[in-house]
Amino acid sequence: MRKPLLGLVVFSFLLTGTPSARAEQQIVLKFSHVTTADTPKGRAAEFFKMRAEGLTKGRVKVEVYPNSQLFKDAEEFDALAKGQVQMLAPTLGKVSSLGFREFEIFDIPYLFPTKASLQRVQDGPIGKGLLKRLESKGFLGIAYWDNGFKIMSANRPLLAPADMRGLKVRIQNSKMVDMQMRALGAVPQVLALNEAFQALQSGILDGTENPPSNMYTQKMYEVQKYAVDTNHGYLGYAVVTNKKFWDELPADVRTLLEQALRDATRYANAISQQDNDDALAVIERSGKTRVAHLSDTQRKAWRQALAPVQKEAEARVGTDLIKAINKEVAILGGG
Ligand code: LMR
Repeated sequence: MRKPLLGLVVFSFLLTGTPSARAEQQIVLKFSHVTTADTPKGRAAEFFKMRAEGLTKGRVKVEVYPNSQLFKDAEEFDALAKGQVQMLAPTLGKVSSLGFREFEIFDIPYLFPTKASLQRVQDGPIGKGLLKRLESKGFLGIAYWDNGFKIMSANRPLLAPADMRGLKVRIQNSKMVDMQMRALGAVPQVLALNEAFQALQSGILDGTENPPSNMYTQKMYEVQKYAVDTNHGYLGYAVVTNKKFWDELPADVRTLLEQALRDATRYANAISQQDNDDALAVIERSGKTRVAHLSDTQRKAWRQALAPVQKEAEARVGTDLIKAINKEVAILGGG
């Protein structure tokens, strides 16, 4: 045991002039998430690592743990609270399940017609106010990262909303997505992302929803015969850290990490659409999942079928909030 330790001290001395000075200074930031490294979130996390380590010249070491390697989605917030990880990027729906109902707005079907309208709401007072609310739980919401609009999939053709009736579907932990599936006559079941493939493969569940990037990287397309580009709901992330950890960082390091995060956010939001377009194209080319593309009239039928969910949502998140969002959306012309 002794030799390697001594070796480390000598090596450290050679590098820094003072034994272990470097080792003492290095701050380790563990970033845990549930998608694979080649998703928009996974790539943005790696980008953040590269920028953070570069800008701080190695004073910060970012360890990224993708694909639920470290924690599954139901365990992530607890791990963050306990300091077992320092950064997460859960879906906005999963944030709402912490008790912040207003985050459910992002899961309301067809509320946001375009990415531009989402970005407007996230960058404005509504989005900033939502992130602020996380402080009451000891967390700090520091950015929104984009993924994309969701497609539906199943082992039978899906074209009209009625095709969802009776299907057992995997959903992420989100009350609003649960309500959406029930409105379609489907039977939702909450499962961690890393359990979805097996549930679909074994036939325990019939269908699911996600943006193409997740459908592809979690290999769900291999065990789903049909999909449809409903684009019925949005999937994005809140980048969250532990407030105490963040506040206790040396001020200069914190400033550099904020810069790294701003850069990673710009990157995440720039790559997400192309990543999802590419994933959908690969899924289609694979021939494993047949992807239906809705006409305007067909999409209207999905909108109508899901309109009652918007009404129900008002009761949960407040009519004023929905009105304020509709106002923001209308400024951009409603898509
Ligand atoms: C899920 O379905 O659980 C995902 O959308 C998770 C994620 O982080 O993208």
